[in-house]
Amino acid sequence: MEKVKKTVFSGIQPTGTVTLGNYLGALRNWIPLQDEYDCIYCIVDLHSITVRQEPAQLRHNAMSLLALYLASGISPEKSTVFVQSHVPAHAELAWALDTICYIGELNRMTQFKDKSAKHSDNLNMGLMNYPVLMASDILLYSTDLVPIGKDQTQHLELARNLAERFNNRYSPTFVVPEGFIPKLGAKIMSLQNPLAKMSKSDENPNGFISMLDDSDTIRRKMRRAVTDSDTEVRFSEDKPAISNLLTIYSLCSGVSVADAEKQFEGAGYGVFKDAVADAVIATLEPIQQRHKQLMADKDYLNEVLKQGAERANRIASKMVAKVYRKIGFLPKV
Ligand code: AMP
Ligand code: TRP
Repeated sequence: MEKVKKTVFSGIQPTGTVTLGNYLGALRNWIPLQDEYDCIYCIVDLHSITVRQEPAQLRHNAMSLLALYLASGISPEKSTVFVQSHVPAHAELAWALDTICYIGELNRMTQFKDKSAKHSDNLNMGLMNYPVLMASDILLYSTDLVPIGKDQTQHLELARNLAERFNNRYSPTFVVPEGFIPKLGAKIMSLQNPLAKMSKSDENPNGFISMLDDSDTIRRKMRRAVTDSDTEVRFSEDKPAISNLLTIYSLCSGVSVADAEKQFEGAGYGVFKDAVADAVIATLEPIQQRHKQLMADKDYLNEVLKQGAERANRIASKMVAKVYRKIGFLPKV
């Protein structure tokens, strides 16, 4: 049966705080897609336990991330919003995909190499399998489009390869998904090191802005942000720190990078940084207010999760049944 609308799938891990990088690179771009596509937005908690998590904190983070999704403009009426661990098909398909994925493919994943270096005391199999689980997330829903930041392109490529490999080995089953990576903001850099991605796991909290940071904290972090050697507010490869701030400014204020360069000509970094802080605060404040209201209504949030899990389960369990049948497992009687 031809689908009327194309399908979008994406997810964020409920690990630590969600950063401005997550918002500008991913979450924000999910909102407008809801009108044109069948969108499925997941809180990928199975992924987050590849790094050690404190159980109570994980529970809190998952609920808080749900509230952030909704506060940012994801509508549970339009989209399917759910928690990955509520849909067993994700783990069930991942197992099957594991058997057609080669160790070499996972061994050369940049994120795996980075995370193994960082968590050398906890080099677990889940960390290596992470991209297969992500492929499972995407392929279960016959996803056409995956809105993600630039750091996830290698993982998406693996999902495409596994889809094609399975289709060739058995018969056409999976849609081969496309990535949707924003032109601006696909990789927001750390405020302390413009050569490294802004990351929630940064040991230095001055490197990232959390979506829930209050105004004073945002302003302080912005003022402390490293800059480049001269004093010009200009977007260029040899000015990674200022280019990053210009990107943030442009996305939060709606002013184009070119217009922002003109606006801050001769202004100096101090004035510019304050303006970036203002733009970020104006973007995040209304989201934070809605987040707070939503967090006070756990019954509502739970109802959203219940309905989301039901919808997701209906689609995903059918796909797993189909895959298991093609593989040659005995049908359930
Ligand atoms: P994660 O926090 O790893 O679960 O990432 C969730 C989403 O945010 C993915 O689509 C990432 O590509 C995106 N993302 C994470 N960090 C950044 C960043 N610094 N800049 C742009 N996008 C990001
Ligand atoms: N791996 C993604 C990240 O860390 C999160 C993720 C898990 C995801 N499953 C996904 C993103 C499926 C898009 C689609 O950023």
